[in-house]
Amino acid sequence: MKNCNIRRIGVLTGGGDCPGLNAVIRAVVKSAIHDFGLEVCGIADGYDGLVKNKIFPLGWDDVSGILTLGGTILGASNKANPFAYHAPAASGDGGAADLSHQCVENFKSAGLDALVCIGGDGTLTIADRLNGVGIPAVGVPKTIDNDVCGTDVTFGFDTAVQIVADAVDRLHTTAQSHQRVMVVETMGRYVGWLALMGGLAGGGDIILIPEIPYSLPVLCKALTDRAGAGRRFSIVVVAEGVKTPEGDYVERNRVAESHDPRRLGGIGPYLASEIEKHTGAEARAAVLGHLQRGGTPTARDRVLATQFGHHAMCAAASGEFGVMAALKGTEIVTVPLHSVAERQRSIDPGGQLISTARALGTCLGDEEP
Ligand code: F6P
Repeated sequence: MKNCNIRRIGVLTGGGDCPGLNAVIRAVVKSAIHDFGLEVCGIADGYDGLVKNKIFPLGWDDVSGILTLGGTILGASNKANPFAYHAPAASGDGGAADLSHQCVENFKSAGLDALVCIGGDGTLTIADRLNGVGIPAVGVPKTIDNDVCGTDVTFGFDTAVQIVADAVDRLHTTAQSHQRVMVVETMGRYVGWLALMGGLAGGGDIILIPEIPYSLPVLCKALTDRAGAGRRFSIVVVAEGVKTPEGDYVERNRVAESHDPRRLGGIGPYLASEIEKHTGAEARAAVLGHLQRGGTPTARDRVLATQFGHHAMCAAASGEFGVMAALKGTEIVTVPLHSVAERQRSIDPGGQLISTARALGTCLGDEEP
């Protein structure tokens, strides 16, 4: 058993769910118990559970058998921000209140010495602020979007890319049969990692990402050129964060209480209809949506999530707070949370992934530089 200065550690999962969350929880709990003899508590429903004191013991048996499970056994919430907490509509006035002091009280009365916060940029930004009000916190970067700074990759991304690639594979056969243009819309918020990596893996003909502004005439010409060259079909992969030619996001809905209220979705169907209008080709759209977030994580994500969970736990056990576990090359390291908070990791339009795509003739919707 290794020595450390803490006795009890809490763990929560914030933001949207993502494959691999349970693998992190399992790694935190098992290594805390096995390596340091610590007690572990789970906090239900992300920061909502910290505000409402939903804190309970989490033992070895509670996490046995969850490595391969999608979702999170702790529940998640992408609405609860302790620093701007929205009371439920029925009981509150709709405004946001700073309830961070309540979190500190609950944290202390549960006898916790440290908190592992697993989540994306919103959750990690809050973790950073919690450190400032007396909750020693450590972060673990989660998201299918892969948009967290400070790490080469987030867990959950590999699984989602595989799902996109599988979808593109399947759409090839139906597109080919009907001589259609299939437009596949991926998630990813304001960055194009999922669309680009899934599109490259699936051999998409046209890939549109927010980092590279496209032109509708260029997109349509690429499609008519392919048809002219005798190609029976085309696959367009588009990220949900791509704007209309007028420069507007296409939104599905808004979640007022969320860190980022905008919920993107719909650029795929929009483009399919524009393509039909301007090229005369028959087009269909497939919006992959939450399918990209569900189900069992890939082996790669299980391993990365396990390493992240173990590393975050070790950082907390050694009294290193205000940091996030991160992958740098082949090593798991820690980086300061404040260097990650409120930032977004996007694709370099001049980088190798893009030049590789272009070299293979993939259209990115712009005039090739
Ligand atoms: O951040 C993960 C993500 O799945 C994004 O790709 C997507 O835009 C958003 O969450 C969807 O959020 P919700 O589950 O609230 O609809």
